[in-house]
Amino acid sequence: MKVQRICCIGAGYVGGPTMAVIADRCPAIQVTVVDLNQARIDAWNDSDLTKLPVYEPGLDAVVARARGRNLQFSTAVEESIASADMVFISVNTPTKTKGLGAGQASDLRWVEACARQVATAATGHTVVVEKSTLPVRTAAAIKTILEAAQEEGSSRSFSVLSNPEFLAEGTAIGDLEAPDRVLIGGEETASIDALAEIYGHWVAPEKILRTNLWSSELSKLTANAFLAQRISSINSIAAFCEASGADVREVARAIGFDSRIGPKFLNAGPGFGGSCFQKDILNLVYLCRHFGLPEVADYWESVVTLNTWQQHRIARLVVQQLFGTVTGKRLAILGFAFKADTNDTREAPAIRIARDLLEEGAQLSIHDPKVVEAQISRDLQLEPASETDTLSGTGSWTPATSIEAAVRGADAVLVLTEWQDYRHLNWSDLAALMRRPAWVFDARAVVEPAAVQAAGLRLWRVGDGES
Ligand code: NAD
Ligand code: UDX
Repeated sequence: MKVQRICCIGAGYVGGPTMAVIADRCPAIQVTVVDLNQARIDAWNDSDLTKLPVYEPGLDAVVARARGRNLQFSTAVEESIASADMVFISVNTPTKTKGLGAGQASDLRWVEACARQVATAATGHTVVVEKSTLPVRTAAAIKTILEAAQEEGSSRSFSVLSNPEFLAEGTAIGDLEAPDRVLIGGEETASIDALAEIYGHWVAPEKILRTNLWSSELSKLTANAFLAQRISSINSIAAFCEASGADVREVARAIGFDSRIGPKFLNAGPGFGGSCFQKDILNLVYLCRHFGLPEVADYWESVVTLNTWQQHRIARLVVQQLFGTVTGKRLAILGFAFKADTNDTREAPAIRIARDLLEEGAQLSIHDPKVVEAQISRDLQLEPASETDTLSGTGSWTPATSIEAAVRGADAVLVLTEWQDYRHLNWSDLAALMRRPAWVFDARAVVEPAAVQAAGLRLWRVGDGES
């Protein structure tokens, strides 16, 4: 089987970049990315590449090479499914907000809708590839839906593969072009070979791993759980460092030299954000309980509990340092995205920290190089204030178009995202704009401590017992 036409359902953070790289590396394959969201598709088709709906370093160049050649973005979902011999499902799978499993289980309504769309519109033999992160055994449900549509004697047939995506936002293009591994779970050799052949255009064969369907689905949840667990582990030690006088960066370096532990993913910070870690661990927790493993569920749930605690802890210590009250005080927040080099704010630590401070009556001035004002409003569920009333006791926020504008008149600066722009600031100039006594709370440990202290500012750094 040779794949000539791919349809990817879902033009989001995964579908867009993944398909752009496949199209770039496989010029003979026609790739169409479809979505129900017209505005998103229009943005993917915008001739101005700065308007792509996803900000990822290097994405614009890849799209520029492939778009219009063998890469299309469209809302014609059924048409594209009908002409494809391989359909990727790359739609959102957020945590359920109500009903059975609310707060933990994944909401599979969009995945099921895709399966039904494929069942209706597909022609000939269609390989359906799960690209979304899914609970173990979802492939069984997809298969059942597809099989129900396979009428007696019809020429239509289906096979289902699991091919989870391991890219991280901010480094998506590098991760896709040089993946640590590609994982394909499935039962039918011909379909597995066909998908492996696509990746084989640029990925070494020994990096293309084959497993059964359930192992592939579970490997994705497990990878994210292990990665998130490292962050909660180092953040727990960061708190202990602050209490004991040790420095978490020295501890991380010391343990990271152990080749069994390794140096990566040991940066203490304001806790993990992003659309994946919390959602996927909670899904794992839900599944473990479902399969009668409450101790295993509790173990993984504690990773999320520690993460939430870390975010509340940072908000609380800001209030405590500022003489126990931030009511009416202006606080500059530098960074709203959940990590640097992305415009994504899903589950960003800045949201929980900002909400806690708003609850305390703070006047926040928020700067981020890539996150737009409307997104911050949605995340905080609060429109920006037109004028600040410092005595009202009610928290409010305003967007800042520059770092200086954010810092002007502030009592404290909170660095919540590790953007390059925040690493080498001129603290003596910024200090002159602030109200004294003034603080810097560096939740990412990216500022230069000597420069901050030389400017007469008080400094708190995550995991730093010395300051
Ligand atoms: P996203 O919300 O950015 O994009 C999903 C898109 O699917 C949306 O544009 C939505 O309109 C579209 N959609 C939903 N139902 C549809 C339907 N029936 N027909 C057509 N379009 C439909 O989500 P994302 O971040 O790209 O994540 C997609 C999946 O990939 C999730 O399961 C996620 O867990 C997984 N994942 C995400 C990342 C990441 O870094 N964001 C990394 C690895 C895996
Ligand atoms: C993650 C996984 O890394 C990726 O493999 C999966 O496909 C999707 O989920 P992503 O959430 O995009 O990717 O970014 P990641 O780099 O993993 O960062 C997640 C969060 O952890 C961010 O908030 C980041 O700031 C935080 N983090 C990461 C730390 O606090 N410390 C670290 O050492 C690393």
